[in-house]
Amino acid sequence: MNNYSNYKGMMRKIADIQYASAVLNWDQETFMPPKGATFRAQQLSTLAGIGHELATSKELGDLLNTLSTDVSLSEKEKRNIKQSLKNYNDNKKYTTEFVQELSKTISETFQSWQKAKEENNFSLYAPNLEKLVKLKREECKLLGTFAHPYDALLNQYEPGAKTADLEILFADVRSQLVAFVKKIAVKPQNKDSFMYLQYNKTKQWELGLELLKQMGYDFEAGRQDASSHPFTTNFSSQDVRVTTRINEKDLNEMIWSCIHEGGHALYEQGLPAEEYGLPSGEYVSLGIHESQSRLWENNVGRSLGYWKNNFKLLQNTFSESLKGINFEDFYKAMNIVKPSLIRTSADELTYHFHVLIRFEIEKALIEGSIEVKDLPNYWNSKYKEYLGLDVPSDSKGVLQDIHWSHGSFGYFPTYSLGSFYAAQFFAQAKKEIKGLESEIEKGNTKPLLDWLREKVHRHGKFYSAEELCIAISGEKLNFKYFMDYAAAKYTALYNL
Ligand code: CO
Repeated sequence: MNNYSNYKGMMRKIADIQYASAVLNWDQETFMPPKGATFRAQQLSTLAGIGHELATSKELGDLLNTLSTDVSLSEKEKRNIKQSLKNYNDNKKYTTEFVQELSKTISETFQSWQKAKEENNFSLYAPNLEKLVKLKREECKLLGTFAHPYDALLNQYEPGAKTADLEILFADVRSQLVAFVKKIAVKPQNKDSFMYLQYNKTKQWELGLELLKQMGYDFEAGRQDASSHPFTTNFSSQDVRVTTRINEKDLNEMIWSCIHEGGHALYEQGLPAEEYGLPSGEYVSLGIHESQSRLWENNVGRSLGYWKNNFKLLQNTFSESLKGINFEDFYKAMNIVKPSLIRTSADELTYHFHVLIRFEIEKALIEGSIEVKDLPNYWNSKYKEYLGLDVPSDSKGVLQDIHWSHGSFGYFPTYSLGSFYAAQFFAQAKKEIKGLESEIEKGNTKPLLDWLREKVHRHGKFYSAEELCIAISGEKLNFKYFMDYAAAKYTALYNL
């Protein structure tokens, strides 16, 4: 066997361990009985240990170093080696003590966050979070020298992203989107009370499956189950699971979680199966992943054309609650713009203020210009500034998200990047696919899926996010596309 085949074999073994953990995690969120939790945690920790050993073994390191100078490799092989070597070197920067300390602190912080949120008492969480922030600051140093320490964390989710670039991007969000939302706020509001009538659970479930099927989700390579927080996970491109959450008194939850997770799942199902375990078989970044979910959710799912076809299905399913409502009423209801306290239920415009606030806070925390004790006040003043809202309690404020309690600093910006990439990609798709919008109106999204497969999915991680964006649209990420999309859509919706 030659070196490259050896490398593939080792990478696939690491992937086997990771995906086996993913199955256990998926089960934990969906079907595991409560008493299974203790041993499950132990099983996951054992597998994580084995995975880490394999991923940092001397054998793998030697092999990668040898292969990194092998000029006979193809371009794709070279890129795989470069990527794997980078991951290997990053993994090696962590001492076992640091990993253990971090993992212990995270589980303590997570538990204290749950309690603090439940009891609306930030002080129960603050001491653990302080410890965790300190460790994350250390982690930044340990990962090397960056223009800004926060870059090190950002790169774990969005390889190549820079704080300086995000500052420019979010300055655009601030100057353009804030003003635009203010124009909407003074207009008469559209009605959506019918969304909160009675919607039968079983019928919602069936409808969700139908929406997934229509998008092209392959049920031979996946399935849908219920969980308290909707998510997508995969064990290979041939087994990609989605979950949804159904609320009988709110039709929004199922519809948007199905389409959103469906978008993530189509990406995973479209990754090349023959590249299993290799960078060329993996997603590019969380921002690109999110571009796929948001493109389906917002650019397709929240468009008038999409419901021209699908509203009939919806109305036949829920004839009682949707009596007298037409697809235009429905379109207006799903696109109401209104500043609110909770990120996960925000509309597609004010959503980015929630992200902007978290970005500013994380950056300040990591560089040390604010401390954990300052968080509630800082948070509340930002919500007043950007959303004009008074935060009534920490549970509805600084305690609402799970991310920081998991040590996930640098994650939030990928949500906004996802929407902005989605707008840019969708603008390009409209140029390249003849009659795209009229096909969507007819319920035919296959040309769009084929285009995404060709432009995004099949490449795996061959391109970086920036390279991929240039390859698709001819330029780097440009906020203009999102603003153009928002301006066209909401000017019509609100008669601006
Ligand atoms: Co998502």
